[in-house]
Amino acid sequence: MTMAAGAGLVSMIPGQLSCSNPNSKVVVALIGCKGMGFSNLNAFMNNPEVQVAALCDVDENVLNKRAAEVEKKMGKKPDLYKDFRQVIDRKDIDVVIIGTPDHWHCLPMVYACQAGKDVYVEKPMGNTIGECYIMEKAAKKYNSVVQVGQWQRSGKHWQDAIDFVHSGQLGKIRTVKAWAYMSWLKPTYKEPCAAPAGVDYDFWLGPAAKRDFSPNRFHFNFRWWWDYAGGLMTDWGVHLIDFALYGMKASTPNSIMATGGNYAIDPRAMQTPDTQTTIYQFDDFILQWEHAVGVDLGPYKRGHGVAFIGENATLVVDRGGWEVILEKAGKKSEMKEIPRISGKGSHGEHVRDFLDCVKSRKQPKANVTIGKDVAVVAHMGNLAYRTQTMLHWDDQAKRFDNEAANKLIYPTYRTPWELSKL
Ligand SMILES: NC(=O)c1ccc[n+]([C@@H]2O[C@H](COP(=O)([O-])OP(=O)(O)OC[C@H]3O[C@@H](n4cnc5c(N)ncnc54)[C@H](O)[C@@H]3O)[C@@H](O)[C@H]2O)c1
Repeated sequence: MTMAAGAGLVSMIPGQLSCSNPNSKVVVALIGCKGMGFSNLNAFMNNPEVQVAALCDVDENVLNKRAAEVEKKMGKKPDLYKDFRQVIDRKDIDVVIIGTPDHWHCLPMVYACQAGKDVYVEKPMGNTIGECYIMEKAAKKYNSVVQVGQWQRSGKHWQDAIDFVHSGQLGKIRTVKAWAYMSWLKPTYKEPCAAPAGVDYDFWLGPAAKRDFSPNRFHFNFRWWWDYAGGLMTDWGVHLIDFALYGMKASTPNSIMATGGNYAIDPRAMQTPDTQTTIYQFDDFILQWEHAVGVDLGPYKRGHGVAFIGENATLVVDRGGWEVILEKAGKKSEMKEIPRISGKGSHGEHVRDFLDCVKSRKQPKANVTIGKDVAVVAHMGNLAYRTQTMLHWDDQAKRFDNEAANKLIYPTYRTPWELSKL
């Protein structure tokens, strides 16, 4: 962070700058520039203190396109890199935004924390349970401010809905539902071809197993393959299950079961299930996750959402708003129905919250522990699906009662990449 004239440093941690002057510049680099990474950078660039020093991508077509867009918006072309380690080596960079596919979140984030940088990392925070533990450890050990891209956490209507849940007015909550029914997400199989010119596919694969290039597993479509992501269970699951956990003040379940399959989509286009139901059992409630691609009529006629089913009433919240629906007449509750209160997206607010925390060194709204907690729960759902077993979780030992699931807690990285040891 470069200091504005006359500004004073408040606390200096070696390799990490911190100051309370809201005018101080924040020097930013983006790793992974195509989709959400660049949406994030755009939101950063809307803040006056942000300077964009560098862009990094293993696809030079993406890199050049994004560089021209940054130059147009900011009046200065950023430095361009293929290797994220060179970005992290730069001492002038305060903040790294990580917009790579999920299998490429952990290493850049841990390296960035080790280099004393603050990190805005996309969700799900890690691609395995074990990576999430390592990432949380790194952020804490190196005092990095980390915001995970669960931007609903900065949304007023989401907070209002959770405050209402916490007020107790719904009565005892025994079931929470979260779901994502996505008609627009309907992958179609594409014939194999060579990697486009300008793409370093081996670097794109990175720690994942070596494979021939396939457009079905590349930009955006990576989310449907276990090597790189966890399907809708982790993609939308982390956004919504996060609020289920927040509302219920819960973290890890006692047991997990899941079922589903690829009933609609050609499995050559999508390995993760296109249709899935996962049931988590906590001490005194159950959480049910459902997803489906290709259809959009979820519970309460909502494509996605979270429903807290209380003995007096049910609260339903989604990206568009929240409402409270009363239990049938005859109940003793004196509650009144709350018609839908509309809400809006809060991506810009989430980035602003992060920038403020970079300066104040406070914890941002979707901090590393929040990101870890929900990613772990979402991955548990996938492990129950993949092992086709009801899993029991020992939170002390951080182990399941199933060896096949335990083997998938930590990933196996392809040489020369190594899982960070902290
Ligand atoms: N918060 C949200 O609302 C939201 C929305 C969409 C996506 N996401 C998350 O954002 C991440 C990216 O998803 P996407 O759909 O934008 O992906 P994408 O495929 O559109 O973009 C990923 C980019 O990362 C690049 N990349 C891959 N490996 C790299 C490496 N080692 N170094 C540098 N660049 C590398 C790719 O070439 C590509 O340009 C995912 O984790 C996804 O879950 C979050």
